[in-house]
Amino acid sequence: MTFKHRAIVDTIPAYKQGKPAPALAGQRSFKISSNENPYPPLPCVQKAIEDQALDRINRYPDMSGWQVVSRLAKDYEVDPAEIVLGCGSTEVITQLVDLLAGPGDEVIYPWRSFEAYPIIVAGAGATSVQIANRPDGGHDIDAMIAAINSRTRLIIVNNPNNPTSTSVSNADARRLMKAVPSDVIVLFDEAYIHFNTAADTSVAMDLYREYPNIVVAHTFSKAYGLAGLRIGYGIARADVAAGMRKMSIPFGVTQTAQVAAVASLDAKDELMKRVQALIGERGRIVKALRAQGWDFPEPYANFFWLPLGEQTAEAESRFKAAGLSTRVFDGEGIRISIGETEANDKVIEVCQSLKDDGIA
Ligand SMILES: Cc1ncc(COP(=O)(O)O)c(C=O)c1O
Repeated sequence: MTFKHRAIVDTIPAYKQGKPAPALAGQRSFKISSNENPYPPLPCVQKAIEDQALDRINRYPDMSGWQVVSRLAKDYEVDPAEIVLGCGSTEVITQLVDLLAGPGDEVIYPWRSFEAYPIIVAGAGATSVQIANRPDGGHDIDAMIAAINSRTRLIIVNNPNNPTSTSVSNADARRLMKAVPSDVIVLFDEAYIHFNTAADTSVAMDLYREYPNIVVAHTFSKAYGLAGLRIGYGIARADVAAGMRKMSIPFGVTQTAQVAAVASLDAKDELMKRVQALIGERGRIVKALRAQGWDFPEPYANFFWLPLGEQTAEAESRFKAAGLSTRVFDGEGIRISIGETEANDKVIEVCQSLKDDGIA
């Protein structure tokens, strides 16, 4: 850059959005690159937006998000002061990092993990301490504990982890919490928690009731299928939540998003049936790929991870030719979202062809 700017920005890669479905003549194609929910919005959610938000877009939204906040507080049995909204949990995480860490401070998180973490940490001027995942793709909790020092301001746990789809066990989460000083915050980013079927998974809200230094980040983007509306929330002790609100983008969460979130909470049972269907599809894919001889981490989110290493680029082109856009991490692997049944069938077919041709 030819203008004066913060040098730290040069050290971070820009966020890469999952590619759109490839345009192929005469073939239906699918976007399975962004861990989105393939189901269209529920009619009741669309109706709520029409009835309660569309004719009000000349007005600013309620900045306190009271309708959603009070509803979430009731559902989680916490005080409304403990709920903080953001335009997506990406903003919630940004608020927290901005509140806690600046130049000279360290933020510990697993790597690979959600690619926004390094961007958010660098944006705050703080230092990322990335802890390599274990060979099975899971968090290396011992190494995360060993990295804690007097500069540590935040530790992030991503359960299930994006992109490896691994689950963090309750035992590991508790071991971490025991080791963390009580004035250092631990963020449990549970964007995909509704898909986590691991019997021994950590549940951050259980820990939250025991430890004062936990923040839980959830989103309406995944299980609730509202990715395009940008709404997520954090649950934190009132003083932390108040600090986060100060760091929020004023009026960042639109009224449309707030209305849709409440309507989605009202339709939770119906939405969770969709989650169950996606979990079923995930099981079907895993079974088929295991039968083909694939070795990859058991997935606990609405996506799975193929650690293809050197073969990543070749595999991606095969998926693309079949009409599938996947999320590629150059030289490391491919993350594939669970999509429509037809997309999942194609994934299984491509994976078989990769095996047949010795690419994997
Ligand atoms: C691990 C993780 N956390 C948080 C998010 C943020 O989602 P949103 O900002 O849509 O709530 C994502 C999105 O992909 C994610 O993968």
